[in-house]
Amino acid sequence: MRNIATLQDLTGTWALITGGAGHVGTAAADTLLELGCNVILLDRDQTLLERALSSLHFAHGKNVFSVQCDLACKQSIHRAVDEVANISSNKLNVLINNAAFVGTDELKGWAVPFEQQDINTFDDCLNVNLSAPFLLAQKCIPLFKNTDSPLKSIVNVSSIYALVGPQMAMYEGTNLGNPAAYAASKAGLMQLTTWLSSVVAPTIRVNNLVLGGIFRNQDSAFLAQYTARVPLARMATEEDVKGAFAYLCSQMSNYMTGQSIVLDGGWTAI
Ligand SMILES: NC(=O)c1ccc[n+]([C@@H]2O[C@H](COP(=O)([O-])OP(=O)(O)OC[C@H]3O[C@@H](n4cnc5c(N)ncnc54)[C@H](O)[C@@H]3O)[C@@H](O)[C@H]2O)c1
Repeated sequence: MRNIATLQDLTGTWALITGGAGHVGTAAADTLLELGCNVILLDRDQTLLERALSSLHFAHGKNVFSVQCDLACKQSIHRAVDEVANISSNKLNVLINNAAFVGTDELKGWAVPFEQQDINTFDDCLNVNLSAPFLLAQKCIPLFKNTDSPLKSIVNVSSIYALVGPQMAMYEGTNLGNPAAYAASKAGLMQLTTWLSSVVAPTIRVNNLVLGGIFRNQDSAFLAQYTARVPLARMATEEDVKGAFAYLCSQMSNYMTGQSIVLDGGWTAI
């Protein structure tokens, strides 16, 4: 039987992380780099990408790369996967679909009451949060098949709002919101995980990481109401996601597919 250190060792493997320049994406990259993985960050924001790249280079050395791509654009996704293939010599062991339109994005008819939510923004959200992971997974299959390692893992980052409805009173008087499109896209992503897991097995595993709210200096009234509702009495931190990524993206989770880790401080347990 192999020991834990061996099962979580990612030396020589390749991971692609979408939204890799964002908060959770960078924490995922940090985790995988610590375990020896080569990491490619994909993001639409070149400035954020350069910042993330230089801080990860500083902490972990040079085995981190970046690809600029707007996941709203299918041609951009095709180009990005070609670029990834060039960087990694046509190999991939881990794909983390993490990029998303999120609640704090400033979009037309987004974080507003239901009656004002915009159908075009709803469609755009589904495109980035759900269609892009579908296309990326499909385009990355040949890269997964090119690797000799048994590690082949897709992790889709979802949200508690794929599982439960929002308590809108929490958002009153804040610049935060909880759009229907976000919840619907994340629930769709979870079912895409289930579907895909049975179709790409036994070669590739596909799981969800379902996150609760993460602390980002939110409005104090929101923070008080949110934490009062969480059994663990706080919001998550980026550090909290590291163990779950290490588990799902390594051979530690070799017998797990089509499932979810719900990392929400107990939000959905009560
Ligand atoms: N922050 C939370 O409280 C929370 C809670 C639950 C789930 N999540 C999920 O965690 C994931 C990461 O969120 P985060 O908090 O790190 O957000 P973030 O805004 O820090 O990062 C998201 C990243 O995705 C990138 N991105 C967005 N649209 C893109 C596009 N069209 N093409 C390419 N890149 C794009 C952004 O540039 C950004 O770098 C998301 O899937 C989010 O839904 C976050």
